[in-house]
Amino acid sequence: PFPIFKMLRENSPIRWDEERGTWDVFRYKDIYNILQQPMLFNSLPSPAFGDGTTVVTMNPPQHKKYRDLLNKLFTPREMRKLEGRIRDIVVDLIHETKDKDEIDIVKDLAEPLPLYVIADILGIPVEKRKTLKELSMTAFGSSESATEEDLAQFRIVFAEALGQLRIILEEAIEEKRRNPQNDLISKLIDAEIDGKRMPEEHLIGNCLLLLAAGNETTTNLISSGVRVLIEQPNIEEQLRNDSSLIPKHVEETLRYYSPVKTIFRKVTEDMEFNGHHFKKGDPINTWLMSANLDEEIYEDAHLFKLDRKFTKHPHMAFGNGIHFCLGAPLARLEAQIVFKVLLDMFPKIEMIPETEWQTVASEISFGLKTLRLRNF
Ligand code: HEM
Repeated sequence: PFPIFKMLRENSPIRWDEERGTWDVFRYKDIYNILQQPMLFNSLPSPAFGDGTTVVTMNPPQHKKYRDLLNKLFTPREMRKLEGRIRDIVVDLIHETKDKDEIDIVKDLAEPLPLYVIADILGIPVEKRKTLKELSMTAFGSSESATEEDLAQFRIVFAEALGQLRIILEEAIEEKRRNPQNDLISKLIDAEIDGKRMPEEHLIGNCLLLLAAGNETTTNLISSGVRVLIEQPNIEEQLRNDSSLIPKHVEETLRYYSPVKTIFRKVTEDMEFNGHHFKKGDPINTWLMSANLDEEIYEDAHLFKLDRKFTKHPHMAFGNGIHFCLGAPLARLEAQIVFKVLLDMFPKIEMIPETEWQTVASEISFGLKTLRLRNF
Protein backbone atom coordinates (compact mmCIF):
# COMPACT_ATOMS: atom_id res chain seq x y z
CA PRO A 1 0.00 0.00 0.00
CA PHE A 2 0.87 3.69 -0.28
CA PRO A 3 3.44 3.73 -3.12
CA ILE A 4 3.86 7.46 -2.50
CA PHE A 5 5.77 6.71 0.71
CA LYS A 6 8.01 4.24 -1.08
CA MET A 7 8.87 6.92 -3.59
CA LEU A 8 9.57 9.45 -0.85
CA ARG A 9 11.71 7.00 1.16
CA GLU A 10 13.80 6.43 -1.95
CA ASN A 11 13.98 9.93 -3.41
CA SER A 12 13.69 12.36 -0.52
CA PRO A 13 13.83 10.49 2.79
CA ILE A 14 14.33 13.79 4.64
CA ARG A 15 12.89 16.91 3.06
CA TRP A 16 11.95 20.47 3.95
CA ASP A 17 8.41 21.29 2.84
CA GLU A 18 8.38 25.01 2.15
CA GLU A 19 4.62 25.33 1.92
CA ARG A 20 3.87 23.61 5.22
CA GLY A 21 7.03 24.93 6.87
CA THR A 22 8.10 21.56 8.25
CA TRP A 23 10.63 18.78 7.84
CA ASP A 24 9.25 15.42 6.72
CA VAL A 25 11.11 12.26 7.65
CA PHE A 26 10.16 8.97 5.99
CA ARG A 27 12.69 6.22 6.82
CA TYR A 28 12.37 3.92 9.82
CA LYS A 29 15.97 4.41 11.02
CA ASP A 30 15.82 8.22 10.93
CA ILE A 31 12.47 8.28 12.69
CA TYR A 32 13.78 5.87 15.30
CA ASN A 33 16.77 8.17 15.96
CA ILE A 34 14.55 11.19 16.35
CA LEU A 35 12.05 9.55 18.69
CA GLN A 36 14.86 8.10 20.80
CA GLN A 37 16.24 11.59 21.54
CA PRO A 38 13.44 13.54 23.22
CA MET A 39 15.79 16.26 24.51
CA LEU A 40 16.90 17.15 20.98
CA PHE A 41 13.44 16.63 19.54
CA ASN A 42 10.77 17.93 21.91
CA SER A 43 7.09 17.15 21.85
CA LEU A 44 4.80 20.00 20.91
CA PRO A 45 2.19 21.73 23.04
CA SER A 46 -1.38 20.91 22.05
CA PRO A 47 -4.28 23.34 21.95
CA ALA A 48 -6.57 20.72 23.47
CA PHE A 49 -4.52 19.84 26.53
CA GLY A 50 -2.69 23.05 27.36
CA ASP A 51 1.07 23.54 27.52
CA GLY A 52 2.88 20.66 29.14
CA THR A 53 0.05 19.62 31.43
CA THR A 54 -0.20 16.07 30.03
CA VAL A 55 2.27 13.27 29.38
CA VAL A 56 2.10 13.56 25.62
CA THR A 57 3.09 17.25 25.67
CA MET A 58 5.64 16.96 28.52
CA ASN A 59 9.38 16.64 28.02
CA PRO A 60 12.05 15.15 30.29
CA PRO A 61 12.51 15.19 33.22
CA GLN A 62 8.91 15.99 34.18
CA HIS A 63 7.49 13.50 31.68
CA LYS A 64 8.93 10.50 33.53
CA LYS A 65 7.23 11.33 36.83
CA TYR A 66 3.80 11.44 35.28
CA ARG A 67 4.46 8.57 32.94
CA ASP A 68 5.62 6.25 35.75
CA LEU A 69 2.48 7.02 37.66
CA LEU A 70 0.16 6.35 34.70
CA ASN A 71 2.12 3.28 33.58
CA LYS A 72 1.23 1.47 36.76
CA LEU A 73 -2.42 1.86 35.91
CA PHE A 74 -2.09 0.65 32.31
CA THR A 75 -0.03 -2.52 32.49
CA PRO A 76 -1.09 -5.50 30.36
CA ARG A 77 -1.95 -7.21 33.67
CA GLU A 78 -4.28 -4.40 34.78
CA MET A 79 -5.84 -4.40 31.34
CA ARG A 80 -6.54 -8.12 31.36
CA LYS A 81 -8.78 -7.58 34.38
CA LEU A 82 -11.02 -5.63 32.02
CA GLU A 83 -11.38 -8.44 29.51
CA GLY A 84 -14.86 -9.54 30.59
CA ARG A 85 -16.22 -6.00 30.72
CA ILE A 86 -14.83 -5.15 27.29
CA ARG A 87 -16.29 -8.34 25.86
CA ASP A 88 -19.71 -7.44 27.28
CA ILE A 89 -19.56 -3.99 25.67
CA VAL A 90 -18.60 -5.50 22.30
CA VAL A 91 -21.40 -8.09 22.42
CA ASP A 92 -23.95 -5.45 23.52
CA LEU A 93 -22.97 -3.13 20.68
CA ILE A 94 -23.37 -5.93 18.14
CA HIS A 95 -26.71 -6.96 19.68
CA GLU A 96 -28.00 -3.43 19.31
CA THR A 97 -27.91 -3.98 15.52
CA LYS A 98 -29.70 -7.32 15.58
CA ASP A 99 -32.89 -6.02 13.96
CA LYS A 100 -30.98 -4.66 10.99
CA ASP A 101 -29.69 -6.57 7.97
CA GLU A 102 -26.38 -4.84 8.22
CA ILE A 103 -23.88 -3.59 10.73
CA ASP A 104 -21.63 -0.63 10.11
CA ILE A 105 -18.43 -1.81 11.70
CA VAL A 106 -17.28 1.77 12.19
CA LYS A 107 -20.41 3.56 13.40
CA ASP A 108 -22.00 0.68 15.30
CA LEU A 109 -18.92 -0.87 16.88
CA ALA A 110 -15.48 0.63 16.34
CA GLU A 111 -16.50 4.20 17.20
CA PRO A 112 -18.41 3.70 20.45
CA LEU A 113 -16.26 0.89 21.85
CA PRO A 114 -13.04 2.70 22.87
CA LEU A 115 -14.94 5.61 24.36
CA TYR A 116 -17.25 3.36 26.38
CA VAL A 117 -14.26 1.39 27.64
CA ILE A 118 -12.21 4.41 28.71
CA ALA A 119 -15.28 6.02 30.32
CA ASP A 120 -15.70 2.82 32.30
CA ILE A 121 -12.01 2.83 33.33
CA LEU A 122 -12.16 6.48 34.38
CA GLY A 123 -15.33 5.79 36.35
CA ILE A 124 -17.70 8.09 34.48
CA PRO A 125 -21.33 7.05 34.92
CA VAL A 126 -22.81 4.89 32.12
CA GLU A 127 -25.62 7.37 31.43
CA LYS A 128 -23.04 10.02 30.48
CA ARG A 129 -21.17 7.95 27.93
CA LYS A 130 -23.29 8.75 24.85
CA THR A 131 -22.89 12.48 25.53
CA LEU A 132 -19.22 11.91 26.18
CA LYS A 133 -18.85 10.14 22.85
CA GLU A 134 -20.53 12.96 20.90
CA LEU A 135 -18.48 15.62 22.65
CA SER A 136 -15.20 13.83 22.31
CA MET A 137 -15.78 13.13 18.62
CA THR A 138 -16.53 16.81 18.08
CA ALA A 139 -13.50 17.95 20.04
CA PHE A 140 -10.95 15.35 19.03
CA GLY A 141 -12.24 13.74 15.84
CA SER A 142 -10.53 14.42 12.52
CA SER A 143 -11.88 17.52 10.87
CA GLU A 144 -12.16 17.76 7.15
CA SER A 145 -12.51 21.52 7.17
CA ALA A 146 -10.89 23.22 4.25
CA THR A 147 -11.93 26.85 4.00
CA GLU A 148 -11.00 29.58 6.48
CA GLU A 149 -14.68 29.94 7.33
CA ASP A 150 -14.95 26.23 8.11
CA LEU A 151 -11.92 26.49 10.33
CA ALA A 152 -13.28 29.47 12.23
CA GLN A 153 -16.55 27.61 12.77
CA PHE A 154 -14.60 24.50 13.80
CA ARG A 155 -12.69 26.43 16.45
CA ILE A 156 -15.91 27.62 18.04
CA VAL A 157 -17.48 24.14 18.05
CA PHE A 158 -14.21 22.64 19.32
CA ALA A 159 -13.96 25.09 22.23
CA GLU A 160 -17.58 24.52 23.16
CA ALA A 161 -17.23 20.70 23.16
CA LEU A 162 -13.95 20.86 25.07
CA GLY A 163 -15.59 23.11 27.67
CA GLN A 164 -18.43 20.66 28.17
CA LEU A 165 -16.03 17.73 28.45
CA ARG A 166 -14.13 19.58 31.14
CA ILE A 167 -17.35 20.16 33.06
CA ILE A 168 -18.22 16.45 32.97
CA LEU A 169 -14.71 15.63 34.22
CA GLU A 170 -14.76 18.29 36.91
CA GLU A 171 -18.08 16.94 38.17
CA ALA A 172 -16.74 13.38 38.18
CA ILE A 173 -13.59 14.51 40.05
CA GLU A 174 -15.70 16.38 42.60
CA GLU A 175 -17.94 13.36 43.13
CA LYS A 176 -14.96 11.02 43.60
CA ARG A 177 -13.30 13.36 46.06
CA ARG A 178 -16.40 12.93 48.21
CA ASN A 179 -16.88 9.29 47.45
CA PRO A 180 -13.78 7.51 46.08
CA GLN A 181 -14.30 4.32 44.07
CA ASN A 182 -12.05 1.74 42.50
CA ASP A 183 -11.61 3.71 39.28
CA LEU A 184 -8.88 5.64 37.52
CA ILE A 185 -10.04 9.13 38.46
CA SER A 186 -10.12 8.18 42.15
CA LYS A 187 -6.62 6.73 41.86
CA LEU A 188 -5.29 9.83 40.11
CA ILE A 189 -6.82 12.10 42.75
CA ASP A 190 -4.86 10.18 45.38
CA ALA A 191 -1.63 9.85 43.42
CA GLU A 192 1.43 11.86 44.43
CA ILE A 193 4.09 13.51 42.28
CA ASP A 194 7.18 14.69 44.23
CA GLY A 195 5.29 14.00 47.45
CA LYS A 196 2.34 16.22 46.48
CA ARG A 197 -1.04 15.72 44.87
CA MET A 198 -0.93 16.66 41.20
CA PRO A 199 -2.23 20.12 40.30
CA GLU A 200 -5.90 20.22 39.25
CA GLU A 201 -4.96 21.33 35.72
CA HIS A 202 -2.76 18.26 35.27
CA LEU A 203 -5.43 15.98 36.66
CA ILE A 204 -8.04 17.28 34.22
CA GLY A 205 -5.52 17.50 31.35
CA ASN A 206 -4.42 13.90 31.68
CA CYS A 207 -8.02 12.66 32.00
CA LEU A 208 -8.88 14.59 28.84
CA LEU A 209 -5.85 13.09 27.13
CA LEU A 210 -6.95 9.59 28.10
CA LEU A 211 -10.43 10.33 26.78
CA ALA A 212 -9.02 11.63 23.52
CA ALA A 213 -5.97 9.54 22.71
CA GLY A 214 -7.55 6.13 22.45
CA ASN A 215 -10.66 6.84 20.44
CA GLU A 216 -10.11 7.52 16.80
CA THR A 217 -6.89 5.53 16.93
CA THR A 218 -8.53 2.34 18.22
CA THR A 219 -11.52 2.89 15.91
CA ASN A 220 -9.09 3.02 12.99
CA LEU A 221 -7.26 -0.11 14.07
CA ILE A 222 -10.51 -2.07 14.23
CA SER A 223 -11.88 -0.82 10.91
CA SER A 224 -8.57 -1.49 9.15
CA GLY A 225 -8.36 -4.96 10.67
CA VAL A 226 -11.79 -5.82 9.26
CA ARG A 227 -10.85 -4.24 5.95
CA VAL A 228 -7.91 -6.64 5.69
CA LEU A 229 -10.27 -9.60 6.15
CA ILE A 230 -12.37 -8.35 3.23
CA GLU A 231 -9.39 -7.60 1.03
CA GLN A 232 -7.74 -10.94 1.81
CA PRO A 233 -10.27 -13.69 2.61
CA ASN A 234 -7.46 -16.19 3.19
CA ILE A 235 -6.53 -14.24 6.34
CA GLU A 236 -10.07 -14.67 7.68
CA GLU A 237 -9.82 -18.37 6.97
CA GLN A 238 -6.53 -18.67 8.84
CA LEU A 239 -7.93 -16.83 11.87
CA ARG A 240 -10.98 -19.08 11.89
CA ASN A 241 -8.78 -22.17 11.83
CA ASP A 242 -6.53 -20.89 14.59
CA SER A 243 -7.78 -18.10 16.83
CA SER A 244 -4.38 -17.85 18.53
CA LEU A 245 -3.35 -15.91 15.40
CA ILE A 246 -5.65 -13.02 16.32
CA PRO A 247 -2.98 -11.06 18.24
CA LYS A 248 -0.71 -11.39 15.20
CA HIS A 249 -3.48 -10.12 12.98
CA VAL A 250 -3.80 -7.07 15.22
CA GLU A 251 -0.02 -6.40 15.18
CA GLU A 252 0.28 -6.74 11.43
CA THR A 253 -2.74 -4.48 10.92
CA LEU A 254 -1.01 -1.88 13.10
CA ARG A 255 2.04 -2.06 10.86
CA TYR A 256 0.27 -2.34 7.51
CA TYR A 257 -2.42 0.32 8.06
CA SER A 258 -0.88 2.52 10.73
CA PRO A 259 -3.81 4.29 12.48
CA VAL A 260 -1.66 7.34 13.18
CA LYS A 261 0.15 8.40 10.03
CA THR A 262 2.50 10.95 11.52
CA ILE A 263 3.55 12.53 14.81
CA PHE A 264 5.24 15.87 15.40
CA ARG A 265 8.40 17.07 17.08
CA LYS A 266 10.36 20.32 17.38
CA VAL A 267 14.14 20.70 17.03
CA THR A 268 15.65 22.14 20.24
CA GLU A 269 19.12 23.12 18.93
CA ASP A 270 20.85 23.69 15.59
CA MET A 271 22.30 20.43 14.29
CA GLU A 272 23.36 18.38 11.29
CA PHE A 273 21.07 15.43 10.76
CA ASN A 274 22.03 13.00 8.00
CA GLY A 275 23.38 15.78 5.83
CA HIS A 276 20.55 18.23 6.55
CA HIS A 277 20.79 21.37 8.61
CA PHE A 278 18.06 21.36 11.25
CA LYS A 279 17.55 24.74 12.93
CA LYS A 280 16.38 25.28 16.49
CA GLY A 281 12.58 25.54 16.48
CA ASP A 282 12.04 23.68 13.18
CA PRO A 283 8.99 21.42 13.23
CA ILE A 284 9.38 17.80 12.13
CA ASN A 285 6.82 15.32 10.89
CA THR A 286 7.93 11.76 11.53
CA TRP A 287 5.84 9.57 9.23
CA LEU A 288 5.16 6.43 11.29
CA MET A 289 3.12 4.96 8.48
CA SER A 290 6.08 5.18 6.14
CA ALA A 291 8.49 3.75 8.76
CA ASN A 292 6.18 0.76 9.11
CA LEU A 293 6.37 0.04 5.38
CA ASP A 294 10.12 0.54 5.06
CA GLU A 295 11.47 -2.39 3.03
CA GLU A 296 14.94 -1.82 4.44
CA ILE A 297 13.49 -3.00 7.76
CA TYR A 298 10.66 -5.38 6.85
CA GLU A 299 10.94 -8.13 4.29
CA ASP A 300 8.07 -7.97 1.81
CA ALA A 301 6.91 -4.84 3.60
CA HIS A 302 4.10 -4.41 1.05
CA LEU A 303 2.59 -7.80 2.01
CA PHE A 304 0.30 -8.52 4.94
CA LYS A 305 1.85 -11.48 6.75
CA LEU A 306 0.42 -13.10 9.86
CA ASP A 307 3.74 -14.76 10.63
CA ARG A 308 5.73 -11.53 10.67
CA LYS A 309 8.07 -11.16 13.65
CA PHE A 310 8.62 -7.84 15.37
CA THR A 311 11.34 -8.87 17.78
CA LYS A 312 14.17 -7.01 16.05
CA HIS A 313 12.23 -4.03 14.79
CA PRO A 314 9.04 -3.20 16.66
CA HIS A 315 6.52 -1.47 14.43
CA MET A 316 6.04 2.22 15.07
CA ALA A 317 2.25 2.42 15.08
CA PHE A 318 2.36 3.27 18.78
CA GLY A 319 5.34 5.59 18.38
CA ASN A 320 8.74 4.88 19.93
CA GLY A 321 10.87 6.00 22.86
CA ILE A 322 9.63 7.72 25.99
CA HIS A 323 6.22 8.66 24.55
CA PHE A 324 5.48 5.13 23.32
CA CYS A 325 1.71 4.80 23.54
CA LEU A 326 0.59 4.39 27.12
CA GLY A 327 -2.66 2.80 25.96
CA ALA A 328 -1.06 0.16 23.72
CA PRO A 329 -1.99 -2.78 26.01
CA LEU A 330 -5.58 -1.54 26.12
CA ALA A 331 -5.85 -0.91 22.38
CA ARG A 332 -4.42 -4.35 21.65
CA LEU A 333 -6.81 -6.01 24.05
CA GLU A 334 -9.86 -4.20 22.68
CA ALA A 335 -8.99 -5.10 19.09
CA GLN A 336 -8.23 -8.72 19.94
CA ILE A 337 -11.56 -9.09 21.72
CA VAL A 338 -13.41 -7.51 18.78
CA PHE A 339 -11.92 -9.99 16.32
CA LYS A 340 -12.60 -12.94 18.58
CA VAL A 341 -16.24 -11.93 19.03
CA LEU A 342 -16.77 -11.06 15.36
CA LEU A 343 -15.42 -14.38 14.18
CA ASP A 344 -17.57 -16.20 16.77
CA MET A 345 -20.78 -14.34 16.01
CA PHE A 346 -20.45 -13.94 12.24
CA PRO A 347 -20.14 -17.11 10.12
CA LYS A 348 -18.65 -14.91 7.42
CA ILE A 349 -17.24 -11.39 7.22
CA GLU A 350 -19.08 -10.11 4.17
CA MET A 351 -19.43 -6.60 2.88
CA ILE A 352 -22.85 -5.45 1.71
CA PRO A 353 -22.64 -5.76 -2.08
CA GLU A 354 -22.36 -2.55 -4.01
CA THR A 355 -21.34 -0.53 -1.01
CA GLU A 356 -17.92 0.96 -0.66
CA TRP A 357 -15.87 1.82 2.33
CA GLN A 358 -14.80 5.39 2.83
CA THR A 359 -11.46 6.34 4.25
CA VAL A 360 -11.08 9.03 6.89
CA ALA A 361 -9.94 12.23 5.21
CA SER A 362 -7.20 13.38 7.53
CA GLU A 363 -3.54 14.29 7.40
CA ILE A 364 -2.88 12.47 10.63
CA SER A 365 -5.32 9.66 11.06
CA PHE A 366 -5.84 6.58 8.87
CA GLY A 367 -8.93 4.38 8.95
CA LEU A 368 -12.42 4.00 7.58
CA LYS A 369 -15.46 6.21 8.02
CA THR A 370 -17.95 3.46 7.19
CA LEU A 371 -17.74 -0.25 6.45
CA ARG A 372 -21.06 -2.03 6.11
CA LEU A 373 -21.18 -5.76 6.69
CA ARG A 374 -23.97 -8.27 6.32
CA ASN A 375 -25.51 -8.95 9.71
CA PHE A 376 -26.19 -12.47 10.93
C1 HEM B 1 0.84 8.09 22.79
C2 HEM B 1 -0.88 5.69 18.95
C3 HEM B 1 -4.49 3.92 21.68
C4 HEM B 1 -3.14 6.82 25.29
C5 HEM B 1 0.70 7.56 21.53
C6 HEM B 1 1.62 7.78 20.44
C7 HEM B 1 1.12 7.13 19.36
C8 HEM B 1 -0.11 6.48 19.76
C9 HEM B 1 1.72 7.08 17.97
C10 HEM B 1 2.92 8.57 20.51
C11 HEM B 1 2.71 10.05 20.43
C12 HEM B 1 3.99 10.82 20.40
O1 HEM B 1 5.08 10.24 20.58
O2 HEM B 1 3.94 12.04 20.17
C13 HEM B 1 -1.99 4.99 19.38
C14 HEM B 1 -2.71 4.03 18.56
C15 HEM B 1 -3.72 3.53 19.33
C16 HEM B 1 -3.64 4.18 20.62
C17 HEM B 1 -2.34 3.67 17.12
C18 HEM B 1 -4.76 2.50 19.00
C19 HEM B 1 -4.64 1.60 18.06
C20 HEM B 1 -4.43 4.54 22.90
C21 HEM B 1 -5.32 4.29 24.02
C22 HEM B 1 -4.96 5.14 25.02
C23 HEM B 1 -3.82 5.88 24.54
C24 HEM B 1 -6.45 3.27 24.02
C25 HEM B 1 -5.50 5.36 26.40
C26 HEM B 1 -6.44 4.86 26.96
C27 HEM B 1 -1.95 7.40 24.92
C28 HEM B 1 -1.21 8.32 25.77
C29 HEM B 1 -0.07 8.69 25.05
C30 HEM B 1 -0.13 7.98 23.77
C31 HEM B 1 -1.60 8.77 27.16
C32 HEM B 1 1.03 9.63 25.51
C33 HEM B 1 2.12 8.83 26.17
C34 HEM B 1 3.32 9.68 26.54
O3 HEM B 1 3.47 10.78 26.02
O4 HEM B 1 4.12 9.22 27.38
N1 HEM B 1 -0.34 6.75 21.09
N2 HEM B 1 -2.58 5.05 20.60
N3 HEM B 1 -3.53 5.49 23.26
N4 HEM B 1 -1.28 7.22 23.73
FE1 HEM B 1 -1.88 6.07 22.22
